[in-house]
Amino acid sequence: MSAPAPAEFELMDRAISIAATIRQITAPNPWVGAVLVSGDTTQRFEGATESPGRRHAEIVALDAAGENAKGGTLVVTLEPCAHTGRTPPCVDRIIEAGIATVIIGVLDPDPNVNGKGVASLRAAGINVIVGIQEQEVRTQLGGYFHHRLTGRPRVTLKLAATLDGRTAAPDGSSKWITSEEARRDVAILRAESDAIVVGAGTVRQDDPELTARTDPPPFRQPLRVVLGQIPSGARILPAESMTGDLTTILDDLGGRGILDVLIEGGASVAHAFVEEGLVDRFVVYLAPAVMGGDDGAPMLKGSGIPTLESLWRGHFVSVTQIGEDLRLEVEA
Ligand SMILES: NC(=O)c1ccc[n+]([C@@H]2O[C@H](COP(=O)([O-])OP(=O)(O)OC[C@H]3O[C@@H](n4cnc5c(N)ncnc54)[C@H](OP(=O)(O)O)[C@@H]3O)[C@@H](O)[C@H]2O)c1
Repeated sequence: MSAPAPAEFELMDRAISIAATIRQITAPNPWVGAVLVSGDTTQRFEGATESPGRRHAEIVALDAAGENAKGGTLVVTLEPCAHTGRTPPCVDRIIEAGIATVIIGVLDPDPNVNGKGVASLRAAGINVIVGIQEQEVRTQLGGYFHHRLTGRPRVTLKLAATLDGRTAAPDGSSKWITSEEARRDVAILRAESDAIVVGAGTVRQDDPELTARTDPPPFRQPLRVVLGQIPSGARILPAESMTGDLTTILDDLGGRGILDVLIEGGASVAHAFVEEGLVDRFVVYLAPAVMGGDDGAPMLKGSGIPTLESLWRGHFVSVTQIGEDLRLEVEA
């Protein structure tokens, strides 16, 4: 197969940006973007996945294109589905519409689809190219991939710390270690999560609301989960209280279609997730501030590894300055 022309990358970049804003609308279904170039190459039609049970991105683009789809090229971030779920298979509509070429970012990890969509399209004589901007699409669909492959949500641990790694002063105060800009970034992280988890200790100390206060507000607020008992009168009272084994809790959340969980502390809960190897991604906000001493709260509270041989080591996905702070994103 010849190397894809740059136009295919541009079209996929557009499809990726269409998908960038719809995560909360489509979850637990994948957030997908599509661009359809008409058979005479003069027109473009776009589609974004609608809420669960409604149209997938490909169908939105096909509906918009109508007869113009014939002989056209469909660029879509995720492999079109080949099975009947709440909606009929997208591949049938693509074949019926007479699309000549389908360009796909990445195969769908869902066992109902995985490769079957591509096979059906090829069997119908459609030219199919897979893997354009694959890494970008995988990153965009991170929580979805993790969930479909493991049955559990992807776990992101968020920490806000001073340069000397302290997350609260000896009196328990931690508002605010980081800047307003960093806290706005946390609001986006929350909006991109299906559930937020905190320990009862943090609720007792901070009485947080844990809502995603983004502008514009998110399509829906994430589920709020408190590990342990929620004190009466807490502002987070409509939250769900969960107790017990963390893997069982994650299995439960995964079974309910929660794709991304954000752990917001405190240090005891953070340590428990790390100790059990359950953290998939760290997002650490580091303030240019120093607490000093050894009696402030650490990032992780509990017994660590006995020797360097057992050190957990990941890699930096990104290091960015946000306001006065650094945002470090690390994955396994
Ligand atoms: N800088 C930051 O990023 C940040 C973020 C959040 C919090 N903080 C600070 O962290 C401090 C609180 O941290 P912390 O370590 O004291 O408390 P924590 O980690 O918030 O909560 C620990 C408590 O959660 C409950 N718990 C945890 N796992 C459980 C499980 N599997 N099942 C049932 N209950 C479970 C237990 O509550 P019981 O004791 O009721 O059994 C446990 O004592 C506060 O000072 C807060 O300001 C800082």
